[in-house]
Amino acid sequence: MKKIEDYYVPWVRGIKMYISPHIELAWREPELRRMMSNENPHHPSPKVLEAIAEYGRMANRYPDQGLAVRSKIAEINRLEGPENVMLGNGSSEVFDMIFRSLLEPGQEVIQHTPCFGIYKLRCSILGGKLVSVPMVYQDRLLHFDPDAVLDAITDQTKIIVIANPNNPTGNFLEAKQFVRIAETGIPFIVDEAYTEFAGLAKSQVGLTQRYENVIITRTLSKAYGLAGMRFGYALGAKRVIGQISAALLPWNVGTIPMWAALAALEDTEGLQKRVEFNNSEVEFIQDALSDIPGLNIFRSHGNYILFDGGPAGKKGEDVVAHAQEKGLIFRPQSKMYGSDGFFRLTVGSKEENRMAVEAIQEFFAH
Ligand SMILES: Cc1ncc(COP(=O)(O)O)c(C=O)c1O
Repeated sequence: MKKIEDYYVPWVRGIKMYISPHIELAWREPELRRMMSNENPHHPSPKVLEAIAEYGRMANRYPDQGLAVRSKIAEINRLEGPENVMLGNGSSEVFDMIFRSLLEPGQEVIQHTPCFGIYKLRCSILGGKLVSVPMVYQDRLLHFDPDAVLDAITDQTKIIVIANPNNPTGNFLEAKQFVRIAETGIPFIVDEAYTEFAGLAKSQVGLTQRYENVIITRTLSKAYGLAGMRFGYALGAKRVIGQISAALLPWNVGTIPMWAALAALEDTEGLQKRVEFNNSEVEFIQDALSDIPGLNIFRSHGNYILFDGGPAGKKGEDVVAHAQEKGLIFRPQSKMYGSDGFFRLTVGSKEENRMAVEAIQEFFAH
């Protein structure tokens, strides 16, 4: 008789459940300040809380296909209608659905590193091959390298994914470079999880009108502050969104998240306030730390900032440990470009950001 292991598909056999240790820590020890997962420090607005309560009463009913919220999203993005919009249980699920629709075992996904980890996770679950193209670390900046991305294309490439702005580097790739990649015809995902912080004028959504292979992903986890709600979406040509939506798990987005999302999207003032708060706090943190010798700050358009303390001879994991002693959870980064000095922090409340600045100043003073 075969063992149970023999029945698993080879690419799933032996892999472990994804557990984020810092998120576990934060829930276990709620007195620690959460500056590690690019969440929003503000609670949902009263309008969103009202929608949660109202549709909580309808939780005995199955959700519909979300035409109301999809229409609103289409309107915000100047697209024709709800057929241009696919909903997901967070944008993480949106990547999953796109990957499932395109990738066969052994085929390739190109990502630009350092970047968000979900592309790798969803690629491996399908037996795909991840091709990581490194950004270039030069003049204290991490630069996109679109030529290297184009050079990495093979006849097995099924997906190219680039986050804009990128996490953790915080920078945008120039618009004309997106056109070069779109021109290849290869399915090209532009992950715009953080674009609202700089404004939708920075979005590449217009490309979806000219190139069927371009798909934009967004989330309400960041600027809208609803990470725990799990609500994300994809934007694209109707034909493409229609086909990928066929891979959706029926009722993948619940009634409560759908209507709470609509309330959040309608609350433009609430978004504006969160964005203004974030951007001025990013400026504050960057400026407050800019005179520390050997601390390289990657100026960010998101709600997080990447640092490299390597030139000062410091290790990122030691900064993170020091911050934790002060009650703050930062995010360590693995060794890159020969430096183990990288760490990232997420914008918190005013008080938390000042605590963070003090903790970093203190650490680098010794
Ligand atoms: C670049 C990027 N994309 C997507 C996400 C995923 O967000 P969610 O699944 O919450 O929509 C994140 C979360 O940190 C991210 O950093």
